[in-house]
Parts: sequence; structure tokens; C-alpha cells
Amino acid sequence: MNTSVHNLSQQESILNSFMAEIRDKNIQSDRLRFRRNMERAGEIIAYEISKTLDYISRPITTPLGISNCQVLEEQPVLATILRAGLVMHQGFLNVFDSAYRLHHGDSDSFEVKVEYLASPEIDGKTVILCDPMLATGSSMVLAYKALLKRGLPKHIHIATVIASEAGINFVQENLPDNITIWAAAIDSELTPRAYIVPGLGDAGDLAYGEKV
Ligand code: URA
Repeated sequence: MNTSVHNLSQQESILNSFMAEIRDKNIQSDRLRFRRNMERAGEIIAYEISKTLDYISRPITTPLGISNCQVLEEQPVLATILRAGLVMHQGFLNVFDSAYRLHHGDSDSFEVKVEYLASPEIDGKTVILCDPMLATGSSMVLAYKALLKRGLPKHIHIATVIASEAGINFVQENLPDNITIWAAAIDSELTPRAYIVPGLGDAGDLAYGEKV
């Protein structure tokens, strides 16, 4: 089985309108709106991923009776590459509100959150790795290798707002097959400084301001 890739821009949905605002240099200068749009893109990608997860039926007591509802069988582990990933991460947390969390800060370390300590192993778990810009793919491969120190996940979903074709190829060549890539859009070009073209610019700077 090959890594599967979902390019969500190929479907007609409101996500494409959010992407238009995320990419538009006149609209993205409103930092608050940019962050909210990245969060909304995260929510929609999370919803798409949620359709592939396993559910169990649970009897829920309403004020008037019992309703058998489908609920997630197991919460996924959310791992996010900092700093630009934080806004997208919030969108994922809005959807997977009880997920375990991991943050990837540099090439080889995770800042471990309290929720994660409650379940330190990712062995056999579903992991969602968020990076809003999958440019060269090298941070993603490093993040995956760092993750393996916590166990061997059952499945990894890589969630990105914009991926480059080169980044997707690099991930496919360097990571195993039990991975699904979800991108709100896939662009063809990468500059020598690893910016995606047409892309959106620097996602971290747009969300939080230029580095000082
Ligand atoms: N990171 C960004 O913020 N933008 C790109 O185009 C590539 C990586």
C-alpha cells in the first residue's frame, strides 16, 4: 500500500474560500483574521480525518430517553510542529477536544504536555502530525523519527494547509506506508529558500509577527 494523499482543494467546499483569504496578501495582513482562517482550515481538515477513524455506539441519556450515539473509540494523539503549527493545532483541538497532545519544537525534541503524560505511549495509537506548510518535508521526517521514541503508532495522519509536490514526494520516499497526507492545497513550486509558490508567505510571521 502506498501513502495516500488527499488534496482537499479538488473538492468544492468552503475550505477553498478560506484558502483564498489565507493566501490573499491584502487579507492576510489582518493577523487576527489570518489566525482564525488557519484555525478554520485546521477544523475542516480535522473533520475530514475524523471520517476515517473508528467509532463505537454508546447509549446516551437525553432528557426524554436514550439515544445510541457513535463516539470516537479512541482519542488520537495530536503532534504539532511549532511555531506556525499552533493556530492550526487549535483548530484540531476544537474538533478532537480530548486528544492527547505533543508539540514538536526543534529537530529532535518534544515539549510534553500534561495530557500526554497521562498516556505516554503512542504504541498502536493514531497520531495526527500538524504542520501548516509541508515545504521540503524534512521537518516532517525529523518529527516522525522523534515520535518513534514514544512507540510505534498504528497510523499517522499528516495534516497541512499547503504542501509542495516536492515535500509530498520526500515524505513518501522517507516514511513508511501507514501514513495519510491531508492538504488543503498542493502547490507545484518550491524556492531555493524552501518557500512554497504561490503558497501564502511565511505562515509563522503572518500569524505571530516577524521574528525579532
Ligand atoms: N514555511 C512557510 O511559512 N512558508 C513556506 O512557504 C514554506 C515553509
